[in-house]
Amino acid sequence: MKPGKSCRHAATLLALSAVCTLALHAQAPPGPAPAQHPWDDRSLSPDRRADLVLKEMTLEEKIQLVHGSGWGALRPGDPIPPGDNWGAGFVPGIERLGIPGVNLQDSAVGVRLSAMMGRYSTLLPSTLGAASSWDVRGAQLYGDVIGRELRAQGFNMSIGGGIDITREPRNGRNFEYAGEDPLLAGSMVGNLMKGLQAEHVMGDLKHYAFNDQETGRNIYNAVIDRRAARESDLLAFQIALQIAQPSAVMCSYNRVDGDYSCENDWLLNRVLKQDFHFKGWVLSDWGGTHSTLKAALAGLDQEMPGDQYFGAALEQAVQDGRVPMSRLDDMDHRILRSMFAAGIIDHPVMPRDVLDPFRGRDDAQHIAEESIVLLRNEAGILPLDPGTLHSIALIGSHADVGVLSGGGSAQVDAPGGNAAGAHPGGANWGETVYFPSSPLEYIREHAPNAKVGFNPGTDPAAAASFARSADVAVVFVNQPMHEGMDRPSLSLPDDQDALVSAVAAANPHTIVVLETGGPVTMPWAQRVSGIIEAWYPGIGGAQALANLLFGTVNFSGKLPVSFARRDADLPHPEVTGMNLRPVPQQITFTRDGHTLTRTIMAIAPFEVDYNRAGAAVGYKWFQEQHIQPLFPFGFGLSYTTYAYSHLTVDGAGRTATLTIRNTGRRAGTEIAEVYARLPVAAGEHYERLAAFGRVQLAPGESKTITLDLNPLCLSIFNVQADAMQEIPGRYDILAGPSSAYTPLVATIRR
Ligand code: BGC
Repeated sequence: MKPGKSCRHAATLLALSAVCTLALHAQAPPGPAPAQHPWDDRSLSPDRRADLVLKEMTLEEKIQLVHGSGWGALRPGDPIPPGDNWGAGFVPGIERLGIPGVNLQDSAVGVRLSAMMGRYSTLLPSTLGAASSWDVRGAQLYGDVIGRELRAQGFNMSIGGGIDITREPRNGRNFEYAGEDPLLAGSMVGNLMKGLQAEHVMGDLKHYAFNDQETGRNIYNAVIDRRAARESDLLAFQIALQIAQPSAVMCSYNRVDGDYSCENDWLLNRVLKQDFHFKGWVLSDWGGTHSTLKAALAGLDQEMPGDQYFGAALEQAVQDGRVPMSRLDDMDHRILRSMFAAGIIDHPVMPRDVLDPFRGRDDAQHIAEESIVLLRNEAGILPLDPGTLHSIALIGSHADVGVLSGGGSAQVDAPGGNAAGAHPGGANWGETVYFPSSPLEYIREHAPNAKVGFNPGTDPAAAASFARSADVAVVFVNQPMHEGMDRPSLSLPDDQDALVSAVAAANPHTIVVLETGGPVTMPWAQRVSGIIEAWYPGIGGAQALANLLFGTVNFSGKLPVSFARRDADLPHPEVTGMNLRPVPQQITFTRDGHTLTRTIMAIAPFEVDYNRAGAAVGYKWFQEQHIQPLFPFGFGLSYTTYAYSHLTVDGAGRTATLTIRNTGRRAGTEIAEVYARLPVAAGEHYERLAAFGRVQLAPGESKTITLDLNPLCLSIFNVQADAMQEIPGRYDILAGPSSAYTPLVATIRR
């Protein structure tokens, strides 16, 4: 399924034929087609327009829209369909009705697989990094960058939109998601989708649902009770859906309470389509469809890629009446109405354009400056003063040449190849890729009179002696992450803790810059002067980091995830399933019309007990268990200080008003956080984020802000009533700068 190492060569020939096809396709006359069909009338609603198209469609055409190909041909040896843009997916359009094909591309943190087509794409900071900004406008900008670059490259659908919450902090894909809290994640990814769809590109949310770890993602069964499910992972989806009304939702590989997500009636029909009023379509994760009948009736609308279940088999099932025609119509209606709603029919992607790399880089830098979090600043070591520094020792993580990026289907191809060892072409699956944004270069630019040197950090003793005589040592450490794997622990890999400890012992002015996919442990935290979480900071990352280190820009980011002190403090001290060993298993398959059985060695399906934390994910878990994290959710320092006062909640309990004053001497932007403690009857021993906002303040300035409390965050899911409900009793509304420090309290009664 993956265009990894193995299939890349085979793909080359297909790619050549795709290029020829594309060249022909590109000759189509540009500009909107003259109105020819009743559904061309833009004054009609997307639903009406879809109905009008549907009436004209043959059974064959209806089947054609509910499956597609991936990276070229539907089956090996087939021709590449005309109009296929060589992305992760393609669904041919219906030319006679003026319905364009859908070209889908992975674009979690920028458009993927550009190298194969000789294109460039902007690498944005990781989604988790961007979530540290708590800036919903920044999230829209993020989506806007992706949307305009997809369009420029001839794609009309993104399959980014990752929103699985950080239930498993060692999950290899956390960098593609927006953290542990449903309100923050839902608001950030919802706004990202809004920005993307404003570019007339369709978007999806993924992976629905409970794909919170990569270990055994195709075979594990997530076990979670309904209340906990609705107040955690599903709430993040619900909030994002309300904000963005995305075109699609991608169902995940794993099972939930026994059924695969892509054939899970409760998840798809009942929660997503009925309760969340989702009007778009559900497409399967790549290869995540497992049946025709069950999946079609449970709410799956499109098999991707391939046609094993939603091709001839579905056509036959419809003809036999096993799947009602009305259900197939519903699948097609959902796809067509989303195409009209996002504007991909009224605003076709052709002709292609040359994207503006400079604009993309500037936007990426802006987002990075809001994303990078200052975690420790002892004795005011930061900001660095170029006037007094004579020498700076940079160490580790290829900080001489670049910044780290995340891998898997979120990998963006680095311009010029991997900065830490260029080879032609795009990245190989699982490769650790550095982008050419050099911290060394931009730190030198900020401190022109200082001697700024670099040591690779591969030998702790050599790095320590290199650092010893410098005024300041900046150690870069990394945690490469990619789809398909989790980290065995929260520790930094490759003995980097020893590197930091050695440098810190040699130089008391040591600052650590983390380039990590998610939270890590820091046994040396008390022994260094400064700690900065840069995440995977994107193509403008080095400039952003240098601006923050030297105080040209003030820090404002706050953590979207808790950092535990040790793995043992997590709900699952080990990633479930990681230590399972393959056992003999019988598999049955069909070849040349014969059903065959074979014994293979594989890991047996297993359960992941999500009831252990239930809805108490992240900071809620730490509060409930009375465990102190290393750095709490919502925490982040700045070069100024703020005071909070005068919290009031309106009579209806819909808004919170509070005053924030900048008590320091630098301008800054503070993220105000409002939490709710629900009535005792809720049975919860934690608080819930209910509102947040960014406030820009000059030195000495005060502002009074009013934030909307999200009613879903003040509700519990009542299983008997099958509904979210506020409960009678006393609600404490708390406000402050982090989940661990909320000095203001107001009380309301319901
Ligand atoms: C991933 C999806 C991705 C798809 C297509 C799957 O393996 O889980 O996130 O969109 O591949 O690349």
